[in-house]
Amino acid sequence: MILVYCIHRGIGKIWADILSQEFGEEQVVLSENVTENIKDKVQIVVCWKAPHRMFHEFPNLKLIHSLGAGVDHIFEGDNAVPGAKIARIVDPQLSEDMYEFVLGILLSDMKRLTTYRDQQMNKEWKELTYRTCKDVTVGILGLGVIGRLVASKLSKMGFQVMGWSRSEKDITGVDCFSGPEALEVMLSKTDYLVNILPLTDRTRGFINKALLEQLKTGAYVINVGRGPHVNDKDLIDAIDENQISGAALDVFHQEPLDESHPFWSHPKVFLTPHIASITNIKTAQSQVFQNIRLFREKGEVNNEVFGDRQY
Ligand code: GLV
Repeated sequence: MILVYCIHRGIGKIWADILSQEFGEEQVVLSENVTENIKDKVQIVVCWKAPHRMFHEFPNLKLIHSLGAGVDHIFEGDNAVPGAKIARIVDPQLSEDMYEFVLGILLSDMKRLTTYRDQQMNKEWKELTYRTCKDVTVGILGLGVIGRLVASKLSKMGFQVMGWSRSEKDITGVDCFSGPEALEVMLSKTDYLVNILPLTDRTRGFINKALLEQLKTGAYVINVGRGPHVNDKDLIDAIDENQISGAALDVFHQEPLDESHPFWSHPKVFLTPHIASITNIKTAQSQVFQNIRLFREKGEVNNEVFGDRQY
């Protein structure tokens, strides 16, 4: 039996419906309809941000499939049940969407669009300087499936692109770095830092005072990874001390962002509600179906995530 849990209930219902159409209604259950007597029948869970330890209630659970590219919600929620495989979505559309979002933020800042909007509100007619792609260096943290595509497309767009990852990578048109010393070199040349790292025990708090101090003065930070990659206070201090010029943030420690958080009203912070790149049910569903079949037939999955790496 396949159990569906999604923090966005409407989306959970859509997934439950399409999985029912594919595998039969009696095979699929929405988490809110689970009763004690079927808990031992659940072998597969497809999920997004389930409550902590929720899956430990299913004694025969064998596969946990994330409904997104990220799996930090599974590890953070202590839902990685021993013996159960973990898989995630790797959808080219997710990477394309991320590229388009990052490009939008870059161009908006380079061409000063939000400042013009502010000027418009004050009926102010004032020309500002702007930047051009070829003169801008983008430093990307994380060259996984999404980071690679973003890096490669930004390079084709004419940006100078550098990328940093834990293991060495080779991407045409991108200066690839790995290791702590190389990171320092990259940061010192970066105009726009784009975070697309996976969230793991190693990368939590990665964007902190020490890292921000290594960035080229006046650089701009774009976080489309996860909120806990950033030390919020260190980021605000770096902006207020003019070490960096501002930040665009799509992800936060707590989502929705608490009303009292200083990010909301900071003039140099641009924030969006975790929408940079959202699983497209139409393009992602076939791989979830395929993974469930593959798992049932051979006990294998594509895009498997390993507990020791957490990505
Ligand atoms: C979105 O944040 C995802 O991980 O798919």
